Amino acid sequence: MSTAVESRTIDTLLLEERRYPPPPEFAAEANAKPDIYSRSFEDFWETEGRERVTWFEPFTKLLEWELPYAKWYLGGKLNVCFNCVDRHVAAGNGDKVAYYWEGEPEGDRRELTFADLQREVVRFANALRKLGVRKGTAVAIYMGMVPELAVAMLACTRLGAPHTVVFGGFSAESLAGRMNDMGCELLITQDEGWRAGKPVPLKLNADEALASSPSVKQTIVLRRTGGGVSMQEGRDRWWDEVIDGEPDDAESCPCEPMESEDLLYLLYTSGTTAKPKGIVHTTAGYLVGVAATHHYIFDVKPDSVYWCAADIGWVTGHSYIVYGPLCNGTTGIIYEGVPNYPDPERWWEIVERYRPDILYTAPTAIRSHMKWGAEHAQKHDLSSLRLLGTVGEPINPEAWVWYREHIGGDRTPVVDTWWQTETGMILITPLPGVTTLKPGSATRPFPGVDAAVVDDKGNEVGPGAGGYLVLKRPWPAMLRGIYQDDERYRETYWSRFEDVYFAGDGARVDEDGDFWLLGRVDDVMNVSGHRISTIEVESALVDHPEVAEAAVCGRKDERTGQAIVGYVSLVGGREGSLEKLEELRNHVGKKIGPIAKPANIVFTPELPKTRSGKIMRRLLRDVAENRELGDTTTLADPTVVEEIKQRAATGKAEE
Ligand code: PRX
Repeated sequence: MSTAVESRTIDTLLLEERRYPPPPEFAAEANAKPDIYSRSFEDFWETEGRERVTWFEPFTKLLEWELPYAKWYLGGKLNVCFNCVDRHVAAGNGDKVAYYWEGEPEGDRRELTFADLQREVVRFANALRKLGVRKGTAVAIYMGMVPELAVAMLACTRLGAPHTVVFGGFSAESLAGRMNDMGCELLITQDEGWRAGKPVPLKLNADEALASSPSVKQTIVLRRTGGGVSMQEGRDRWWDEVIDGEPDDAESCPCEPMESEDLLYLLYTSGTTAKPKGIVHTTAGYLVGVAATHHYIFDVKPDSVYWCAADIGWVTGHSYIVYGPLCNGTTGIIYEGVPNYPDPERWWEIVERYRPDILYTAPTAIRSHMKWGAEHAQKHDLSSLRLLGTVGEPINPEAWVWYREHIGGDRTPVVDTWWQTETGMILITPLPGVTTLKPGSATRPFPGVDAAVVDDKGNEVGPGAGGYLVLKRPWPAMLRGIYQDDERYRETYWSRFEDVYFAGDGARVDEDGDFWLLGRVDDVMNVSGHRISTIEVESALVDHPEVAEAAVCGRKDERTGQAIVGYVSLVGGREGSLEKLEELRNHVGKKIGPIAKPANIVFTPELPKTRSGKIMRRLLRDVAENRELGDTTTLADPTVVEEIKQRAATGKAEE
């Protein structure tokens, strides 16, 4: 962990003395009561497993733990779509709204009840079946935030077909890489998406990806914008045409009974190499984990309207827009576009219109709203809000307090929830109604979760000391590995310390036992709550024919948490230019996706290297954050970093 970053973070935390005990009225009605923490690990997960989910056949064994692989709820049979849709309709809640959907273009709205959702899912599942999708067929989904994205995911789970959802902001190459890794046979996409008033060319990207994804034989294309796209005869079919004439009654397409440990989905995430990891999530433990956490942490009530403003393409959307909330029969909001389209009031209009009582978003979004000004929120009635949540990166206390005051009317609890694509569910979090909140702290491990902070040697540190976050026991929604890469799974999560899961985050525990997350300790950057590996961006830069060498690091950014800084040497020692900088940024955008574009690129004839030729990223981070340089004695040529410092100071070209 960089000591400068750590000490600065710790300074902030030491000064943070604000405390927010649970309001008594909230506590009296809360789903979680203080005694929840005294439930034993086994009792907690047994009970949640039985109560939160409907089983076709009950499980007979809670957990089998053969380090580093866990199996949960063995012997059980269930179906995720049945739990998220059918059982609510069967219980008489068919008329309850499952999703309020708001498109980005103004006035574009839809309301889907659970009965509507069931009909749409069944028709689409029938169509998929006709195209040959069966239990085990791998399906890729590359869409924007439209209700059909949830419909597609649920239809897959109904058939027992594992999916991989690829975020619509990823490039053709990223999409192809994921489809090839999983061996997808069918792709579900749409003509275009809407983002900030402009169409996003999803089908066009998909066409490019399909050219290098030989396993994908068929696609289904939803018409969203009506923009012109090319359709390949025999391969591409329109969504409305494939569902035309398909029956929509549940019996026409029964939910496939799945084993607890059957594959539910893969979701790819960045690690410390250029190749994204296919994180494996299975059926029962995942569903129990997301439903239980959603119930207690968001304190959802039968009449709640819950808004998670993430994108379904990330794990937050999988667990807390689709699977957790639907399993709990909760009414949700899906918004298609960006928060400031057509202006920064958009979110607050949405709150006023649908009156959610719960809002869950990322610190980067909160900081954007802070920048745009509280006046936009003040123009709207936000009194429906009862609880706020954040996820994705450490939240600075100022943003936490602003969120509570300006959005939460200085009355709502704010739950800062720590988790990862790998963990599947929230693991460290306050429980509203129970926990005394501290701005900037994710507070406690969720009941049935065993977390600790350890030093370099793996020994637990005492109160106040910093170290590495580890998990000492398995949890139901944990990853079941990296797809087809046992070695990388063991190496990434289980080799750093003996017998515990290494999360890759720095943390500290204070005197009260509350956890404070301090950011990544590896070569993974966190930009607007999204994980991007330095090596992925470096590979994309070096892929450009004029780039000889590249090194990338993150630097602190007020709005996005971290921003990407690239250091590039051009072939033949050529000098860079503003045009070259733009060209390289666009190259990275094309290779990975716009979120991975470096905010700044410093051109330099040499990169700082050790005598053995290793690039010293630590020094580049110091330069990027304008810090005093750390130890430079191991550099092969100490003058190099001085030169880079000069260039960084003069050649800035930021967005
Ligand atoms: O560094 C932590 C940060 O996000 C990483 C996980 O990223 P991803 O898999 O993309 O999932 C994000 C949404 C679950 C973590 O290793 N992170 C996430 N939540 C928090 C956080 N850091 C501090 N506080 C949080 N609440």
